[in-house]
Amino acid sequence: MLFRRHEGPLTALDVDLLALGVAQGAALTEGPVAELDKALGGALSSIAAEEGFEGREGQSLLLHTLGRVTARRVMLIGVGKDADTDRTLGALAARRARDLGVQSLGFAAGGYSLELGVRLGAYRYEKWRTEGVKPNKLATVVTAAAGGEAEAVAAAVSLARDLVNGPPVDITPTKLAETAQAIAAEGGLEVRIFDKAALTGKGMNLLLAVSAGSDQEPRLIHLTYRAPGATDATPSVALVGKGLTFDAGGLNLKPSGSIEDMKMDMAGGAAVLAAMKAIAALKPAGIVVHGIVPSSENLTGGSAYKLGDVFKSYLGKTVEIMNTDAEGRLILADALAYANEQKPREIIDLATLTGAICVALGNDRAGIFSNSDAIAAAVQAAGDAAGEAFWRMPLDRTLWKQMKSDVADMKNVGKRWGGAITGALFLDQYIGTTPWVHLDIAGPAWAESAEGHISKGGTGFGVLTLLEYVKAAGARLA
Ligand code: BES
Ligand code: MN
Ligand code: ZN
Repeated sequence: MLFRRHEGPLTALDVDLLALGVAQGAALTEGPVAELDKALGGALSSIAAEEGFEGREGQSLLLHTLGRVTARRVMLIGVGKDADTDRTLGALAARRARDLGVQSLGFAAGGYSLELGVRLGAYRYEKWRTEGVKPNKLATVVTAAAGGEAEAVAAAVSLARDLVNGPPVDITPTKLAETAQAIAAEGGLEVRIFDKAALTGKGMNLLLAVSAGSDQEPRLIHLTYRAPGATDATPSVALVGKGLTFDAGGLNLKPSGSIEDMKMDMAGGAAVLAAMKAIAALKPAGIVVHGIVPSSENLTGGSAYKLGDVFKSYLGKTVEIMNTDAEGRLILADALAYANEQKPREIIDLATLTGAICVALGNDRAGIFSNSDAIAAAVQAAGDAAGEAFWRMPLDRTLWKQMKSDVADMKNVGKRWGGAITGALFLDQYIGTTPWVHLDIAGPAWAESAEGHISKGGTGFGVLTLLEYVKAAGARLA
């Protein structure tokens, strides 16, 4: 898709489809809508009234212009009363433009949010379809202002979506590591990959335990971005993402109804890899960023880890396994201890960690758990700027007693109630005193249907927030 800017009157815009956003309840008597309405002899406003068009999100009205203006069709698109109506407008228009098979799409509006919306709204995952694929004919998008970083950001979100949507037979730990290597080569990042032998040598026994029941080898991926001119004094942060490429639950096997979408259990890792790709392209100032992804399958093979097993973590604390389906916290524990060795000023992890967070917050919002009000506020602000929804949850240490083991330093599960909190408390054991945020993204990482800029399936949730956070981190931590 090629984006270019238009000058001159809207009525002379030479596109197949001109999309005009209408906020819910907004009058059609001003701005671009009024301009087009006048040129079309009042057709827009009278048909809108007849059809009951009132700008509700997703509502639309399509008119052929029959030569009265240069654009072949005009579409009013309801954008509701969202915070980011430009992003919604771009996404809804791009989806309709794809479905209509038009080649050029015009807007009265322009800028970053609009272009991001168009690019994310046009996203489809069609890699494995051999039949019925409708190629995207949309080649040219004309707007009123340049989109800045939208192309690089959308490419990153699309990568995260592709990785989450990809079948687990393809998206293995090895494949994630290869993806990281490609990102590093393309963007000039440092990369270290620890394979099974290296993980064994280092004693990353929790990551190894989770992967023991699988024929796919685990990997620990470590990408590093250094801002131009960075020195040893430049502040650094670590982004850590759960890269569980298929979560069958292990011997605590998940039942039908819970297991089908578990290819998405690497969404946190995908978000970290994608964010590192965008960071390499956008080169934020004054910051060093570590992107760390522990990756494994969780299966039931003959060497699978068992209930009652005890393992010594990379940090040294021991864990008694009481549920093999609480595997995310195990691979993250070793990765967080490794992240801490890089001496970052702050650590953020993203993980599809618990079903309990979906019970608490629904499917569109991620939970924030943190040992520091300052970093929690910074991540919440980044989420607000990114238009991704979060809610702070308590890191309630009084629940830790659930995790006490008779034989080891801790168990890997507590009781049912407060399950998202005890998951976070487990991770807290491996963080030490480093300011840290844990984002439980089990809900919003996956969508049952498309909505606004969100695509059905893998959403790429978290990438936009991580980018806002990293952009602000250099100045905040200086
Ligand atoms: N990957 C799952 C969590 C999950 C559930 C992600 C639904 C996305 C959608 C995680 O590994 C898991 O199985 N968690 C268990 C924890 C329990 C055993 C303490 C859960 O939520 O049931
Ligand atoms: Mn699990
Ligand atoms: Zn899992």
